[in-house]
Amino acid sequence: MQFIIDSADTKAIRHCMEFFPVAGVTTNPTIISKEKSDFKQLIAEIRSIIGPDKMLHVQCTSDTADEIVAEAQALKAIAGGDFYVKIPVSAEGLKAIRILKGQGIKVTATAIFTQQQALLAALAGADYVAPYINRLDNIVSDGAHVVEEIVTLFKMHNISTKVLAASFKNVEQVHKVSMVGCPAVTINPELFDQLIYHPLTLYAVDAFTADWEMVYGEKKILELLK
Ligand code: E4P
Repeated sequence: MQFIIDSADTKAIRHCMEFFPVAGVTTNPTIISKEKSDFKQLIAEIRSIIGPDKMLHVQCTSDTADEIVAEAQALKAIAGGDFYVKIPVSAEGLKAIRILKGQGIKVTATAIFTQQQALLAALAGADYVAPYINRLDNIVSDGAHVVEEIVTLFKMHNISTKVLAASFKNVEQVHKVSMVGCPAVTINPELFDQLIYHPLTLYAVDAFTADWEMVYGEKKILELLK
């Protein structure tokens, strides 16, 4: 399963890259706008932080197929490395996905809310489809159930497109999609920290330290093995 950083905050990306097993970075126009920086430089900086082998997903901002294709080509040139253009599902978006597939540019179909949107995007050639979990949960739908059915559909129809679940607000949502076989999630940096937080873990480590220090004081293992 792949964990991806849903952020354009370079400090937070560095933090996640240092401590977590991440497969890359996803952005969208909202995430990019938050940084209020030069767009071209920001994309280049994110690429230099993550290196050429990690995935970088950048969303197009146009809504006609021809313009989406032109944006994808330009973005690929700037982003370099393992690049994916994110394209919201629409008729023009599906057309663009088909054209870009023919040009060898990898695509993540995004802003997905239904199983059939995911299926059509996959058949058009998308490499990933990104259903929005929290936004589904917010409208009393069930994000994890939508993911489960997309995963099942892809298996049933022998489709190699992967589900990249997005829009998470809590650990439970991430857990639920991982339990239904979702192959990839993109989560914000704060959620990475929350995924590993548990007070009983901190309590256990404090107890180990206290027991150790009663016998060995401040000395650590390396000192004792000299
Ligand atoms: C993925 O890249 C999506 O654009 C993103 O996760 C949406 O998240 P939000 O619902 O928190 O805006």
